[in-house]
Amino acid sequence: MNKDKLQRVRGALVLTMVFFSLLAAAFWPALWRSMAQDQSANHPWMDKTLSPDRRADLVLQQLTLEEKYGFLHGNGMPGWGQPRPNAYLGNGGAGFVLGVPRLGIPMIQMSDAAYGVRSSGENGRYSTALPSDVAAAASWDVHAACAYGALIGRELRAQGYNMTLGGGVNLTREPRNGRTFEYMGEDPILAGTLVGNRMKCEQAQHLMGDIKHYALNDQESGRNAVNVIISKRAMRESDLLAFQIGIEIADPAGVMCSYNAVNGDYACENKYLLTDVLKKDWNFKGFVLSDWGGTHSTEKASVAGLDHEEPEDIFFGEKFKQAVQAGKISTAELDDHVHRILRAEFASGIVDDPVKKNVVDVEGGFETSRRIAEQSAVLLKNDQAILPLDRTRLHSIAIIGPNANTGMISGGGSAQVDPPGRGAPKWKEHVWFPTSPLKAIAAKIPGAAVEFDSGADPASAAALGKKSDVAIVFAYQWTSEDFDLPNLSLPENQDALIGQVAAANPRTIVVLETGSAVTMPWLNQVRAVLEAWYAGSKGADAVANILFGEVSPSAKLPMTFPRSEADLPHPHLVTPPPEAPGRRNGEAKPTFEVHYDEGLKVGYKWYDAENKPVLFPFGFGLSYTTFSYSGLKVSTGSDTTVSFALKNTGSRAGEEIAEVYAALPAAAGEPPKRLVGWDKVHLNAGESKEVSMAVKTFYLSIYDEASNSWKLVPGTYTLMVGGSSQNLPLVQKIDLK
Ligand code: BGC
Repeated sequence: MNKDKLQRVRGALVLTMVFFSLLAAAFWPALWRSMAQDQSANHPWMDKTLSPDRRADLVLQQLTLEEKYGFLHGNGMPGWGQPRPNAYLGNGGAGFVLGVPRLGIPMIQMSDAAYGVRSSGENGRYSTALPSDVAAAASWDVHAACAYGALIGRELRAQGYNMTLGGGVNLTREPRNGRTFEYMGEDPILAGTLVGNRMKCEQAQHLMGDIKHYALNDQESGRNAVNVIISKRAMRESDLLAFQIGIEIADPAGVMCSYNAVNGDYACENKYLLTDVLKKDWNFKGFVLSDWGGTHSTEKASVAGLDHEEPEDIFFGEKFKQAVQAGKISTAELDDHVHRILRAEFASGIVDDPVKKNVVDVEGGFETSRRIAEQSAVLLKNDQAILPLDRTRLHSIAIIGPNANTGMISGGGSAQVDPPGRGAPKWKEHVWFPTSPLKAIAAKIPGAAVEFDSGADPASAAALGKKSDVAIVFAYQWTSEDFDLPNLSLPENQDALIGQVAAANPRTIVVLETGSAVTMPWLNQVRAVLEAWYAGSKGADAVANILFGEVSPSAKLPMTFPRSEADLPHPHLVTPPPEAPGRRNGEAKPTFEVHYDEGLKVGYKWYDAENKPVLFPFGFGLSYTTFSYSGLKVSTGSDTTVSFALKNTGSRAGEEIAEVYAALPAAAGEPPKRLVGWDKVHLNAGESKEVSMAVKTFYLSIYDEASNSWKLVPGTYTLMVGGSSQNLPLVQKIDLK
């Protein structure tokens, strides 16, 4: 080829390239758009404008049978049985469910998170410990519940989880229950409202929520073997009502069925609980997952409404496939289980906003934890206004109690949050969280001598108390999953310790770190008692802020403190016969019964009905200021509205939780009263506010077994308003039809 020809060919080539480049540039955006459309045409369930149900249906149509089976069970848990071959896919949490990557459906990574994310030490991570759940319930504050849930939600996602196993709301029917600290007290309306708000805000972080343990898992003793006997009306108006309210508020992704049986059938294969009530009456759209090892059958559980087995596939793996192949489980039933899980994934946002691990905001967590602890500590006694402590008149303080120099106790079991900087605590190890009362108090009063005695030798502690201006005893009661308290006494001879210190110095203050109620044989000897519960990562700072008056206490008891175990509905805990322990994961039958004959008379309803005096009533809690109630007005309409004037009659600002109770007409056959509303009101010194609350008709109704519906019994209702269940100065009767 000569030079000219070569140049002509080159020129033509360049022109052709320019032409095609221009063409591509002109058409590229359209090309890209059409590719993207192709993608969404391939994955139409990624269209966020569709409802979660529709999106779930679209995915379901694409799934192979094997992929569907993958949704029905977990894939093991670290430390539970033999590790499975795919264990490496887990995130170190209690369970995980395989996703379907080809369709963009993520794995579900679950972690326990009762008062913070579990297993952080073991996994080399960090979690904030919030005050225990029962403590948060003592705030009676839906905003605190929301902050609680949001924090846990953020920390779960930061650690790579997209589902929580938290939100325990079993009622405190049995205060010796070792998991009382994980729950929200004895009243169904209070507990349900708080757990609902906690879960709503947790899920708002784009996380799948879970409310547990459904239902009537009210004691740990023999939890896999106990058959709870209770009437339908009693359960609907007590334990189940808490779940109903929580589920209505939060629309949680999951409900965890419990280990125990109810009226003959294990909760995870109980058609009444799972289908008739949860899925039909309450219209629950999420999925039911078993407590760990709480599945006992395949066909029976599936048809009863269990959607998912954890943590393994003993009944919802191979056996499930065989049952489908044999036509014993219909494909419609299989599809319903899978649909519910997929729906929950879309509704919670975990598909559209996949989890990305990131760094936890430690300081932010401290701040939230401390604030909630301040709102949760209940001042039970404050004689001669010894609190708040007057810095100007104190020269020496004795800090007494086990570990009060280094930490405060935390709740154990699957709720346990690991303290920072150490590995995994052992099961049932007492974990003292590094939040030092001694340091926090010393920091408040630099000039004073603040000395410590562990109390191991009560005589030496009393000697320190005697030479100090004031003695503060930090007393604890440790509780955990997997066992119940033998009684409500403080352990480790602490009653004697407090008695001896108080005898040496009448200016003794007791700070309680407990998971449940305790008896107080020394109550008359001490000046003040502050119930700080399990106070979380910043518990000591919160307690010090209250003791020195930077914060005025506002919390109220979410559970009654009885005078003695003899006054409980069951003076003796019903424990399993030794020869017949319950089994997890077996085709076992329950081996012993607990008859909840007190029925719906849980907590204060029991003491009211039985005329039993208590140590501290439900709803009780002091403040550093005082409040007065006046001018009750009640109007009826679609809801009943209660209004009254609330005045701060003291000399400092404070918050009052104003409580509204109702006594139903005699024909309703109810206990003397029930909580039907409350409001938390901030008032400056001398300030007065008009408070108005709507009381839902539902909360005034009773459950009628014959018609399976809630009914308002026509007649005279007495509405009562005040600062505790036993201090209700405002009373008005109304007729309702
Ligand atoms: C507990 C559950 C917990 C699960 C996973 C069970 O033993 O009862 O509350 O979520 O373990 O750790």
